[in-house]
Amino acid sequence: MDFQLPILAPSILAADFTQLGSDIKDCVDGGVTWIHCDIMDGHFVPNISYGPSIVKAAKKSAPEAFMDVHLMIEDPDKFVDDYVQAGADLISVHYEACPHLHRSIQNIKKHGIMAGVVVNPATSLFNIEPILEYVDLVLIMSVNPGFGGQSFIESSYEKLQELADLRDAGGHGFLIEIDGGVSLKNIEKVAEAGADVLVAGSSVFKADDITARVNELMGKLES
Ligand code: DX5
Ligand code: ZN
Repeated sequence: MDFQLPILAPSILAADFTQLGSDIKDCVDGGVTWIHCDIMDGHFVPNISYGPSIVKAAKKSAPEAFMDVHLMIEDPDKFVDDYVQAGADLISVHYEACPHLHRSIQNIKKHGIMAGVVVNPATSLFNIEPILEYVDLVLIMSVNPGFGGQSFIESSYEKLQELADLRDAGGHGFLIEIDGGVSLKNIEKVAEAGADVLVAGSSVFKADDITARVNELMGKLES
C-alpha cells in the first residue's frame, strides 16, 4: 500500500469514551487517515484498555480510516483473528511478547493485512534484525508501554536514526512508527529523525479543539 508520509496516527486511548465516535470524526475532519488502537491486557503491561468491540466501533465511525492496532498483550497470536474481524488493517505485536516472532508475523499476514513488530525502550534493534525483511512496519516505543500522557524518552531519536540506517542497509521497505510522548513541541524533530508514522494520544484528544490540534500537528509535519 502507498501512503502519503509522514502520517499522524491519533491513539484513541486518550479519547473521551463517552463520545468516542465524535472525537474520531473530529480527527478525520482534520485530515487524519490512520487511527491507532492500543490494546492492553493488564499482564504484558500494567493496565487494561479495551478490546475488539471498541476497534469495531472506531472503524464504524470512520470507515475510511486505516486501523493501526497495537497489541500490548501476552500471547497475541490467540487474538489476531478477533482484531482482523474487528477491522484491523495492520496489527503490531511486541518482540518481547512473542517467543516465535516469525510465526506470529506470518499469522497476521495470512489474513492479507499488514504486520508490524514493536520494540520497548530497553530492547535493542539488533534483536529484530532477522525479522525486518518480513514486516511492513516497525514501531519504536518512545515511552514505557501501558499509559498515555508520558514524556518522550530522548534516546528514541537515536533509535529512530539507527532503524532508518538498518532499513537502508538491508534494502527493506517497512514503515517506521514512533509511539508515546509525541507533542507539538517535538513532532518536527521526531519526523526529522526518521519517523514515517507518528502516534499522538494526549496531545490530540486532550486539546480543547481536536480538529484544530490535528491541523496544527499535521501542519508541522508538512512544513
Ligand atoms: C502507550 C501506547 C501509546 C500511547 C500514546 O502504551 O502505546 O500509543 O497511548 O499516548 P501519548 O501520545 O499520550 O503518549
Ligand atoms: Zn500504541
